[in-house]
Amino acid sequence: MAQANSQHPQWAYFEGKIVPIGDAKISIMSQVINYGIGAFGGVRAYWNQDQQQLYVFRIDEHVRRFLNSGKLFNAQYAFTAAEIRNAIIELLRREGYREDAYIRPLIYNATEDITPRMYDVDFRFACFTKPLGNYISLQVRACTSSWRRVDDNIIPARGKVTGAYVNSALAKSEAHWNGFDEAVVLNQDGHVSEGSAMNLYIVRDGKLITSSVSDNILEGITRKTVLQLAHEVGIETVERSIDRTELYVADEVLFCGTGAQVAAVIEIDHRKVGDGVMGPVGAKLQASYFDVVRGKNPHHLDWLTPVYA
Ligand SMILES: Cc1ncc(COP(=O)(O)O)c(C=O)c1O
Repeated sequence: MAQANSQHPQWAYFEGKIVPIGDAKISIMSQVINYGIGAFGGVRAYWNQDQQQLYVFRIDEHVRRFLNSGKLFNAQYAFTAAEIRNAIIELLRREGYREDAYIRPLIYNATEDITPRMYDVDFRFACFTKPLGNYISLQVRACTSSWRRVDDNIIPARGKVTGAYVNSALAKSEAHWNGFDEAVVLNQDGHVSEGSAMNLYIVRDGKLITSSVSDNILEGITRKTVLQLAHEVGIETVERSIDRTELYVADEVLFCGTGAQVAAVIEIDHRKVGDGVMGPVGAKLQASYFDVVRGKNPHHLDWLTPVYA
């Protein structure tokens, strides 16, 4: 096993092979740089100290969604799901991580031409990894953003489209500048979409409620996982539009995502959520999620791909 580097990755997958990360360079003339025409994925690998193993969480789901993001562009690929999967595992092995890590696959429009377009262009695949602990705190103070979520008929939130993350950055930065940890972003119709880079749940009367897939959300893999885990422990789940003021009267508000994991929103727009700490439903789901991703739940080992032999 290679020596782990806890600071900066050493390797990237670029133009069909693994190269030193400094050699993975994209032209400033490329359409991804000029117009944000690209898409990405975000995958996590969790270190299990007892088993001395690194587990990639739901890799096939992530690869499928990543390729679906490319479908939005009608991208003609020269790469396959197997290549992406292998690149992820091989990169993690090369880095030799013995800590939690994040994996970032990218599809990018490498064409050097002025007309922003998706036809007659060259879409390529690249990938890098990096060590990552908690992306946000597991208890956050949030505000509703004055920015509205990108709409499906503007830039589809269903894909992780590179340029669309300006919307996330605007919402996150506004929240930060106003002294909050995170933002809740509303749709044009005023319903709750999601956080800047995470899906949202509320708990009301013991039911776990999350915005529906037609509310301009990213169809989160953690969202799907948490819905299933809730179901398994007997918590009723509902997928429907959420009003802004439901956030104020909810018993619990949660964020979930590959980065965010399962985090409690303990304050929203200066109003305390529940008792102002992680509530019982959130605590149960968070514990269950961490057990699963670290390989401590024998019923969900099929969601994990071990990196080391
Ligand atoms: C906008 C947005 N919503 C939701 C999520 C959560 O999705 P997932 O659980 O698949 O990471 C992400 C994370 O990548 C995101 O960027």
